[in-house]
Amino acid sequence: MKLIIDDAHIELIKKVYEFYPIDGVTTNPSILAKSGRKPYDVLKEIRQFIGDNAELHVQAVSRDAEGMVKEAHRIAAELGKNTFVKIPSIPEGFKAMKELHALGIPITATAVYTPMQAFLAAKCGASYTAPYINRIDNMGYNGIQVAKHIHDIFKNNDLKTEVLAASFKNSQQLLELCEYGIGASTVAPDVIDGLVKNQAITSAVDDFIKDFESLTGSGKNMSNC
Ligand code: E4P
Repeated sequence: MKLIIDDAHIELIKKVYEFYPIDGVTTNPSILAKSGRKPYDVLKEIRQFIGDNAELHVQAVSRDAEGMVKEAHRIAAELGKNTFVKIPSIPEGFKAMKELHALGIPITATAVYTPMQAFLAAKCGASYTAPYINRIDNMGYNGIQVAKHIHDIFKNNDLKTEVLAASFKNSQQLLELCEYGIGASTVAPDVIDGLVKNQAITSAVDDFIKDFESLTGSGKNMSNC
């Protein structure tokens, strides 16, 4: 499972990249709005930091297919290879996806709440479909089950599209999808931190250091004892 950061704050992105094995960055219009900066300024800064080989996902905001395709051309031109244009999974979006797929522009189908949206997006040529786990949960359904269901539909229909699960509220949801072998998850920095935030882990490490220093002296380790 690819692990992607769902944020546009460059300092946070750098911090998460420093410690964890990260495959790219996703953004959406709400995330960009939080930065308060010009969209392409932020996105180019992210692209420069993550490099050409990492994935960057950027959403189009037009309501019609023609506008979405126009946005996709600009996004691809400004942000280069491995940039996935996020297209909402609505009828105008499916129309845009078919056109973009024919042009070879990578697509992430977004705003996915149902397996049928994901199936249609996959048939239109999307590389990823992004079900919103937490938002689905908040509607009274089971977001994890929806994501698994979509994954199974893709495998059973020999579709190459992968699930890019989005909208997480905790690390347990992420682990469940990891175990299921879904393609990718995009996660806010605080949820990534939560993956290893555990008192038992820190206290095990503390105990080992204390025991070693009781043998060798304070500040000593295997390089200077
Ligand atoms: C991804 O495509 C979505 O834009 C994003 O993950 C939504 O997350 P949220 O429900 O936390 O806003």
